[in-house]
Amino acid sequence: MSGKTYRVIQWATGVVGQAALTHFIENPVFELAGVLVYNPDKIGRDAGELVGLPPTGVIATDDVEQILAMQADCVMFAPIGLDWNMVCRLLRSGKNVVSPLGPFYPSERYTELFAEVEAACREGGVSIYGGGVHPGFAGDILPLTLARMMNRIDRIEVSEVIDKLRNPMVYIEMMGFGTDPDALLAKPRRSPEAPHHFAQSMTMVVEGLGKTIERLTASFEVARATRDIPYPNGVIRKGTVGGQRYEWTAWVEGKPFMTFHTIWTMGEDIEPRWDTSESCYRIVIAGDPPLEMKLMGGEEADGGRHFPGLPWTGLLAATAIPAVCEARPGLLTHLDLGIVQPLGLVRP
Ligand SMILES: NC(=O)c1ccc[n+]([C@@H]2O[C@H](COP(=O)([O-])OP(=O)(O)OC[C@H]3O[C@@H](n4cnc5c(N)ncnc54)[C@H](OP(=O)(O)O)[C@@H]3O)[C@@H](O)[C@H]2O)c1
Repeated sequence: MSGKTYRVIQWATGVVGQAALTHFIENPVFELAGVLVYNPDKIGRDAGELVGLPPTGVIATDDVEQILAMQADCVMFAPIGLDWNMVCRLLRSGKNVVSPLGPFYPSERYTELFAEVEAACREGGVSIYGGGVHPGFAGDILPLTLARMMNRIDRIEVSEVIDKLRNPMVYIEMMGFGTDPDALLAKPRRSPEAPHHFAQSMTMVVEGLGKTIERLTASFEVARATRDIPYPNGVIRKGTVGGQRYEWTAWVEGKPFMTFHTIWTMGEDIEPRWDTSESCYRIVIAGDPPLEMKLMGGEEADGGRHFPGLPWTGLLAATAIPAVCEARPGLLTHLDLGIVQPLGLVRP
């Protein structure tokens, strides 16, 4: 792979897409071929300008046909919502695809869909790989790798813990913070499909440990703000949703075996009070010897510590591109790629 460069297209420039786009512009292993945007204000603007970098000569377009006709090795596909038809068109046009939306691991629920994706890969002679932090890293490759340090495993718990007051992001309003708790409990904003989407990761771990998931259970709790909580886009009013906790459990041999917790709060003034003082992914493996690992953002120059979950997602997809382009055609998982060697990261 040494010395080779890869022509890439960035599809959508939200927070995740911008992290990947910045990487493509800055890393000499990549040559930016195109950028697809939805926002009318971004159309016709230079890709560099979209991420605060000098001009690249690549102009953002909303013209799908123009993107499909381009010569490129790979598309980093990061829009809102997964449009499988579009993914298959990109694959059939001979471009590899990496996406934070998946597919992450073949699970029974998606057998038919993934067979269609495989067929598109074969037609285009290319591959597809789901890359992101969760799903895609914290709840699959990480626990499965850590499992090698265990003599016996009784239970695996993976928690995404984010204080969204300290780490403001687009998902605050979208996820129903500041709304009526009973209304949100009755109709959570995360799709009923979400546990199955994330269960791709659990399937990889459970099958990797030689077992099978028997069933999946889900629960949802909310915490109420105990005071008005101002944040950059407005105020979370006292009594409204100030915290959310999702729990999805994979059962193995009649017992809860692997649980994904999502604990999101708008600070600490909530009831019940869930501790989100350290925004992180926490992996706890009960067994012999017990193990715990926290994955968090490092200390920054100003002494602060932010939670880079969205940039991590863009980078986990982007840094896999050379390996994906060199791999056999088809749907690729971590197991196919093995240890990915990210190229071009050590540079002046
Ligand atoms: N696997 C993981 O770990 C993981 C983690 C986080 C997010 N994700 C997924 O990654 C994707 C990108 O996340 P993000 O945080 O970057 O989201 P985001 O900031 O909300 O941005 C998504 C982008 O989608 C484009 N868009 C606008 N309207 C659209 C429409 N009607 N249909 C499709 N796309 C539209 C926009 O692109 P332009 O601004 O270029 O116009 C927007 O900036 C999401 O689908 C999210 O679910 C995965």
